[in-house]
Amino acid sequence: MKDSIRHLIQQALTRLTTDGVLPEGLTPAIQVENTKDKSHGDFASNIAMMLAKPAGMKPRELAEKLIAALPADPAISKVAIAGPGFLNFFQNSDMLAQRLEAALADARLGVRKGSAREKVVIDLSSPNLAKEMHVGHLRSTIIGDAVGRVLEFLGDEVIRQNHVGDWGTQFGMLLAYLEENPAAAESELSDLEQFYRAAKTRFDDSPAFADRARELVVKLQAEDPECLRLWTRFNEISLSHCQKVYERLNVKLTPADVKGESAYNAELPGIVNALRDKDLLTEDQGAQCVFLDEFQNAEGNPLPVIVQKAGGGYLYATTDLAAMRYRSASLKADRALYFVDQRQALHFQMAFEVARRAGFVHDGMRLEHMGFGTMNGADGRPFKTRDGGTVKLIDLLDEAEQRAYDLVKGKNPELDDAELRQIARAVGIGAVKYADLSKHRTSDYSFNFEQMLSFEGNTAPYLLYAYTRVASVFRKLGKGIDEVDGQIDLVAEQEQALAAKLAQFGEVLNNVGEKGVPHLLCAYLYDLAGLFSSFYEHCPILSAEEEATRQSRLRLAALTGRTLKQGLQLLGLEPLERM
Ligand code: ARG
Repeated sequence: MKDSIRHLIQQALTRLTTDGVLPEGLTPAIQVENTKDKSHGDFASNIAMMLAKPAGMKPRELAEKLIAALPADPAISKVAIAGPGFLNFFQNSDMLAQRLEAALADARLGVRKGSAREKVVIDLSSPNLAKEMHVGHLRSTIIGDAVGRVLEFLGDEVIRQNHVGDWGTQFGMLLAYLEENPAAAESELSDLEQFYRAAKTRFDDSPAFADRARELVVKLQAEDPECLRLWTRFNEISLSHCQKVYERLNVKLTPADVKGESAYNAELPGIVNALRDKDLLTEDQGAQCVFLDEFQNAEGNPLPVIVQKAGGGYLYATTDLAAMRYRSASLKADRALYFVDQRQALHFQMAFEVARRAGFVHDGMRLEHMGFGTMNGADGRPFKTRDGGTVKLIDLLDEAEQRAYDLVKGKNPELDDAELRQIARAVGIGAVKYADLSKHRTSDYSFNFEQMLSFEGNTAPYLLYAYTRVASVFRKLGKGIDEVDGQIDLVAEQEQALAAKLAQFGEVLNNVGEKGVPHLLCAYLYDLAGLFSSFYEHCPILSAEEEATRQSRLRLAALTGRTLKQGLQLLGLEPLERM
């Protein structure tokens, strides 16, 4: 709709230019926004204010001329001038109703991708396997998962890549510990965090152990079979911990999506050679570096991307370059989205630039760092356990479910325990995920159980409950959500407002997919639920007098229910039929 309004405005501008009202050569970026207040129409444009000066007219005067020059369009019932010179467009409700009917008849709710379909790599989760997943990995995992789902829904081909940290010097220490006491170590591995701490203590306390650890790193890099066996065993156990967390979180990651740092080991010498061949390498104190003039330190000297250390070892950046080349040349991706902590922003800016200069990625490929802020505790300080340790993700999820269980049991003491558990899972895990997804990706936020489990405000419990309210209408009726005949007819103000919101679903999803910002979908669903509430309050559904009105309202409710459900699923939440 916004596109077609932009197009109408463009036609009016061309006409006014031909008529000599506007000077030649104006190419403004025409802005069309959804209005907040429906009494001002459905869409607004500030074009008359933008062009008033070059046209030498008052904005309202130009607005009048624009309205006169706008071609007629059956989808627009009225255009009015408001305030200092805004153009307000009112949608034709019959056309709007028709659009909603088309959405109801479509499994994808009428949603299409606005641009060409693409092959998209999503780099997500990517924990370091030496340690247990902690809360810092939550954001990458669930934001990446939600954006992946949205892109898939829009028709893109999504390839998830879990770029786990399964290589590096810490592994020497862990292997030395595993070697020292295989039997005990195997059982201790059920708690990786503890295993890591125990190995670290040995490393710090015993010089002999530390020497052995360093020796094992070298042997591992030389692909010593026994070392590789221990390393593989360790990684299997660590990855199975991750997989449990993924299942618990209901994210679409499988073992097949794992392509860790070690997978690129064989490529690393070739990456350095390719950079040398392109004359991009400089040796600095024995290390191989690519200097990028546009990135400078505080003294104004160019910053290097180090790809090989003086001792010959490769770095995080080298592996990322190899991964980019693989994603471009082998996976043939059009886009690669990196869901990684904002603190790695400079690393990615620089690595992307080196990859481009070296020709590791094809020209059209978009590389995008989808950075995110830090999750803090309720006190606004970095999230820690009471004794200052890192919070294991699994403990956090356990607590969320337990709190949700107590909450739901308090509200519905009559539910049997199995159903309570199921609801508690959807509400508890959903609350943790939604609280994160609903914040702007790049901002820091405070983790707060009370807030995220509240039934009021922009929370998972509120939205899950809103969906059950729609579902209950159909349960009372004794019909499925897609079993209502009749036609949508938009009469009441609340019906119009709800309908206009429903028609924006596709636009919102396109934005989420393009910018990698699920909070837009959360905000949309929250607005939608609010508009459904006022519709539900003001427009009786089952008790409507006329049969046609009843059917129309039921169909509006059905589309609302399906949109809420689809939206929640795209965020990776599990909608419930009752709670
Ligand atoms: N393992 C890294 C960490 O925990 C994140 C890796 C992100 N992905 C990448 N391609 N660099 O910080």
